[in-house]
Amino acid sequence: MNIISRAEPGLSHRLAVDLGERSYPIIIGNRLLGADRLRAHLDGRKVLVVSNDTVAPLYLQHVLADLEGLDVATCIIPDGESEKTWTRAADMLAALASLRAGRDATIVALGGGVIGDMAGFAASIWMRGIEFLQIPTTLLAMVDSSVGGKTAVNLPQGKNLVGAFHQPRAVIADLDTLRTLPEREFRAGIAEAIKYGAIVDAGLFEWYERELDAILARDPAALLEVVKTSCTIKADIVRRDEHEHGDRALLNFGHTYGHAIETLGGYTRFLHGEAVAIGMVLAAQLSANLGMADESALRRLQSLLERAGLPVNRPTDMTPAAMLDAMRLDKKVQNGKLRLILWRGIGQAEICAGVAEADILAGLDPT
Ligand code: NAD
Ligand code: GLY
Repeated sequence: MNIISRAEPGLSHRLAVDLGERSYPIIIGNRLLGADRLRAHLDGRKVLVVSNDTVAPLYLQHVLADLEGLDVATCIIPDGESEKTWTRAADMLAALASLRAGRDATIVALGGGVIGDMAGFAASIWMRGIEFLQIPTTLLAMVDSSVGGKTAVNLPQGKNLVGAFHQPRAVIADLDTLRTLPEREFRAGIAEAIKYGAIVDAGLFEWYERELDAILARDPAALLEVVKTSCTIKADIVRRDEHEHGDRALLNFGHTYGHAIETLGGYTRFLHGEAVAIGMVLAAQLSANLGMADESALRRLQSLLERAGLPVNRPTDMTPAAMLDAMRLDKKVQNGKLRLILWRGIGQAEICAGVAEADILAGLDPT
């Protein structure tokens, strides 16, 4: 793998997403916020810090201390996936205008995937693109959303339908922030971490089977390993396929189903990671029905996700027909046909076009 990786003893671990001139570091460790680590990744003096009303009271002061002496404004939006909207992105643009931010301004995204995706989107369109830093504070954002440059807002019609590819300048993941993360959010992040084992690395999947209890107990060494391994795999996939013309789509295992579940739930009923957990099992069930994966592999996936406290069944009030209809707005649709990430068993996934809708419906309703 073309990934630079070196440990900074006792402090942090550093990886890089290798994208030529646009390469950037992912710094993972403890006590990173409030330790003057942000300035090195800023060019201009104007900085907009974007966060929400849950995360800001916890960590904004540390970030502001790191930015002392610069021309800093804040934009604090209400918490929630249902706030991942045009309107909130426009609030960020208005804050940039008030700051008189030019092309050398930087947005600092402090929060989970909702803040990171939305702040990244605002950065991608302000004056046709300015720099942004990702400071992920959820497990999900550390293992997935802060890396790779997918930015977006939701529409009522579907998840992440409006957005841009725009890579951050750096990702700074302070594992100490996970101490305040609510249990349900923590478990939702584990779904995306397990996904990497499920799609590309059978050994990693087995590691999750062995070490899940330590991870759930938030053992610091286990957490560092989870974030490091996830970022290493994701950085390698993004390096090879930044704009998702090929293998990057594998990272969407379970997501076509998951996004439909989030949309049908009005973006409030299921957390993203929970919807992805259900979606991975539904995709694996379809794969088993099509003879691509063993039932025993499906049972292992389902059991690991259940041990992590994640839901694995289609909500009964979301009918197969309603699910399929919501899935038709997926970004992987080509020529009106769904393309799904299906499964060959632990550690192997593939992109499949042309799965018959009757099979998809049957997979959604295994009774
Ligand atoms: P989130 O951003 O809503 O954060 C989850 C909750 O945890 C929120 O209530 C938040 O306020 C709170 N929180 C965050 N950090 C905290 C902390 N340290 N202590 C206490 N509370 C904290 O959700 P998420 O799960 O981080 O991200 C989900 C979003 O990420 C979805 O919108 C999804 O589409 C997106 N996503 C994007 C990508 C990508 O590649 N860009 C990948 C996966 C997911
Ligand atoms: N989370 C999917 C991707 O970044 O491609």
